[in-house]
Amino acid sequence: MDTETMVRTFVEYVEERGHRRISGSTLLPPPGDPVLFTTSGMHPLTPHLEGRPHPLGRRLVNVQRCLRTTDLEEVGDATHLTVFEMLGTWSLGDYEGPRSLDWGYRLLTEGLGVDPGMLYATVYAGDDRTGPDTASLEVWQELGVPVELTVEDNWWSNGPVGPCGPDSEIFLWSGDTPPRSTPTRDDRWVEVWNHVMMRHRRLENGSLVPLPQRNVDTGLGLERLASLLQGKSSVFECDVFDPWRRIVPALWPLDEPSLRLAYDHLRSAVVVLGDGVRPGNTGRGYVLRRLLRRVLTVLWRDDPSRSLGDLPDELVSHTLHHCRQTGDPREVRRVLLEEERRFHHLLIRGRHLLARPRFQGPLSDEDFRYLHDTHGLPRELVTSLREE
Ligand code: SER
Repeated sequence: MDTETMVRTFVEYVEERGHRRISGSTLLPPPGDPVLFTTSGMHPLTPHLEGRPHPLGRRLVNVQRCLRTTDLEEVGDATHLTVFEMLGTWSLGDYEGPRSLDWGYRLLTEGLGVDPGMLYATVYAGDDRTGPDTASLEVWQELGVPVELTVEDNWWSNGPVGPCGPDSEIFLWSGDTPPRSTPTRDDRWVEVWNHVMMRHRRLENGSLVPLPQRNVDTGLGLERLASLLQGKSSVFECDVFDPWRRIVPALWPLDEPSLRLAYDHLRSAVVVLGDGVRPGNTGRGYVLRRLLRRVLTVLWRDDPSRSLGDLPDELVSHTLHHCRQTGDPREVRRVLLEEERRFHHLLIRGRHLLARPRFQGPLSDEDFRYLHDTHGLPRELVTSLREE
């Protein structure tokens, strides 16, 4: 099953159960929101989880692109991407967790063809503030799915304050032996779908108060699910990356970790550009700049003549099309090339500056400040130039 069919199966299944599809899915959070990018499907819905009525009603579904820079160092492993898509469902004060889990199980097994024997669930064990999530535990026991109870791993929040709650996570076995052990003891159990019983709000002082309504917020990582259903051993091998895997290794013969970084960061950069962000020295623009500089650093490590201009239009347009973005692929490529030129000049200037006697010994904070403020050289770039 390709990812498009998975999305359609998912959306149709929950639409048949009264959910309405939200149309927007930009990475940019609404104005006034302090975070740089949408990091999960629930993010744009925060006010509605806190009680504000949603124009589409109490049951919602969405395919939300998300960006997580917290996972940047993990990119390249089998399951983490910088930009990924999350299929999400919400009950805004409507049905409760057990129904969500029951539908989730049926959608995975009957709708998407997952072998029930390949599933494991985790459930919140409770602590001194909130009791165990016995309702979720009972659902899994009735369905015959093995369950592990945890405390920290089964509490979801988007930050230190705001809506939060116990969750129940569904794991799929990715190993090539029959399933064994449990999700916390064997990382061949891959988390695919998280159902959060979003009914508390954490205050500044750390205490929990009930939200005005009892919600359910679920998120299923599309590329993870796709790689497992397609029998692949990493997200980079699912069909979303088909054109990247076909084209990039032929252009640039890199080792596998570098290829994965290039696929991830370039694809993420295209999606970020497609949502209207442009490279800059602060905020969202700087995240984009860092992604591109990390790729260029890898590309130029063994061949400084490599260029983002080598990338065919097809890769850019495939990515924009997949994310239903309307940006012009030529404009995206123009920005990529301009950013590459800028980085190239910065590297030349940086090497030249760092050759000065003043910068031969250990650098002080003042040196770093001077290099950054006067010459536009970020600390991490200075550090990597000095390691050359
Ligand atoms: N908010 C939860 C998550 O990101 C479920 O959508 O995992």
